[in-house]
Amino acid sequence: MSGQIPIVRTLAGLRDITAGWRREGARIAVVPTMGALHEGHLSLVRAALAEADRVIVTLFVNPRQFNSPADLAAYPRTEESDAARLAPLGTDLLYAPDADQVYPEGFATTVSVAGVSEGLCGAFRPGHFDGVATVVAKLFLQTGADCAFFGEKDFQQLHVVRRMARDLDIPIEVIACPTVREPDGLALSSRNARLSPAERAIAPKLAQILISTANRLDAGASAALTLERAREAILTAGFRDVEYLEMRAEADLSPLDVFDRPARLLVAAWLGDTRLIDNVEVPPAVRPGKPSVTPRD
Ligand code: PAF
Repeated sequence: MSGQIPIVRTLAGLRDITAGWRREGARIAVVPTMGALHEGHLSLVRAALAEADRVIVTLFVNPRQFNSPADLAAYPRTEESDAARLAPLGTDLLYAPDADQVYPEGFATTVSVAGVSEGLCGAFRPGHFDGVATVVAKLFLQTGADCAFFGEKDFQQLHVVRRMARDLDIPIEVIACPTVREPDGLALSSRNARLSPAERAIAPKLAQILISTANRLDAGASAALTLERAREAILTAGFRDVEYLEMRAEADLSPLDVFDRPARLLVAAWLGDTRLIDNVEVPPAVRPGKPSVTPRD
């Protein structure tokens, strides 16, 4: 399908449309985004279109998940080009709510998910996951979707959202999709656009170091020593700082000192003024016909 995608800005307008879909018995999917769409987002939309009869993409730059007003102000707003990228895929609706449709006057509720929100990005971005859990809970309830699609790139966010939906009895299936990468392994992110050419050349080393570290851990190397070496390798590659590099259990993100169950290596590191995050499975993922770092098509 091509042409234009309908854009709805009010909750009442959204509910009018979804009520009609419900009467037809449609299965509804939601892909929550903050816009500035790249191929990673589009892969979520394609997965949603394959799974559901109707697909809503939400676009809301959520002020509650930013740690600084400057970061919020600098966040790219590209609704027109986002809508143009979504239309040809066959997306049914872009829900780009006005701010008061999400946070009306007097809004006083915060959804806070203990455990999985703590540590990793949660330790360096205080309040971030409260903001994410609150807005995603609202988007789940407003859309009434049957399933929702999230990228594994934001692996901690995925766990936070899953826990929140389970704990609040929101009847939605949270479906995870693999990280989409550039051919050199760099995980797609709207932040990549901020990298200088020299930084862009260094950036893929983060994924490469993660993969080789995952292989070493899988081969039985000591976790403490291997992670320490990986941290040094990231700094030697040209990163300014490593906020964290940790091995966590795949199932519940609990910290692991030894590799004794399916795990994830998760990292956040600064390259100049850009903060990059990434994660890989341990043992490294082998997807049929694909290398363990899945490059972009
Ligand atoms: O991953 C994002 O883009 C945001 O955190 C989300 C899930 C859309 C909530 O604002």
